[in-house]
Amino acid sequence: MYNGALRWGSFLGLRRDRQLPKGEQRMPIRKAVITAAGWGTRFLPAAKSQPKEMIPLVDKPVIQYAVEEAVASGIHQIIIVTAQGKHAIEDYYDRSFELEHYLEQKGELKLLDEVRHVSQMANICYIRQKEQLGLGHAVLTAKDLVGDEPFAVFLPDDLFHSQVPVMKQMLEIYQRYPGNIIATQHVEEEDIEKYGIIEPKKLDERVYQVLNLVEKPRPEEAPSRLGITGRYILMPQIFEALEATPPGKGQEIQLTDGLRLLLQSQAVYAYEFEGIRYDTGTPLGWLKATVAMALQHAQLGPQFKDYLKSIKV
Ligand code: UTP
Repeated sequence: MYNGALRWGSFLGLRRDRQLPKGEQRMPIRKAVITAAGWGTRFLPAAKSQPKEMIPLVDKPVIQYAVEEAVASGIHQIIIVTAQGKHAIEDYYDRSFELEHYLEQKGELKLLDEVRHVSQMANICYIRQKEQLGLGHAVLTAKDLVGDEPFAVFLPDDLFHSQVPVMKQMLEIYQRYPGNIIATQHVEEEDIEKYGIIEPKKLDERVYQVLNLVEKPRPEEAPSRLGITGRYILMPQIFEALEATPPGKGQEIQLTDGLRLLLQSQAVYAYEFEGIRYDTGTPLGWLKATVAMALQHAQLGPQFKDYLKSIKV
């Protein structure tokens, strides 16, 4: 057990969360934090002069899939954590009167609708992470905008292909298991070192109590094969925990370390989501996601499938 964290947990005065009595409603999740301030080194040189979140995946930028998932899950207030060189994200969600005028003149009304929809679909605000000190620090940057309420976190690199949006699945779990919830998936042994890994105690179908979390362990030290992926529901006490979290792996303030601290005083659950996750933060993951999304695209899908079948390698 991490005694330092235990002491901090008591010092912070955090109370262990309990399940609510039947019928009592949880505070709704109204806000989503999308962390988009990272350097994107695994996608260089493409990410050198444009944010990796703006790299197109079929016909829209990667970050748009996260925004659409939030909106489809009923979350309309979105806080995007950005950094230097990420203006393209703000421009994308802003209105472009010149472009709208041009499309109107040309009679391109379907495109006009799509372009307008992007700027109207959610209430988006931005905050700068002035130094890229890690994911935990990026979440902490949004503290004042989130305020004292539970919220969702989206890592836009992680793109999910699922029948029910993954955040929507998590919000359903949240009704039964009020508390912090982490989206997890089984990972192959050779990939364990790329993930935060949880020590689980099974509670229900696909639901676990988290007993401990380890950031990128060696396979022999991993407490399970359940890896943390890029969707979270967090209680506002995570901010106090992150403020007390020292830099960890890679000298970054890790969200996993903040959650381990929070674990000393609040329930943390893991949910094994239904669906497929793609890590679009690497060229190979992006290629896989592109193929998957293109195949199910209403207009492009059938032609693209025929094309793939015709390729002779
Ligand atoms: P990653 O670990 O993928 O880091 O961050 P990265 O910098 O984006 O990419 P690589 O590893 O250099 O290729 C996970 C998430 O946390 C955000 C990223 O934007 C991504 O959504 N992040 C990371 C921040 O917002 N700030 C940081 O300081 C670090």
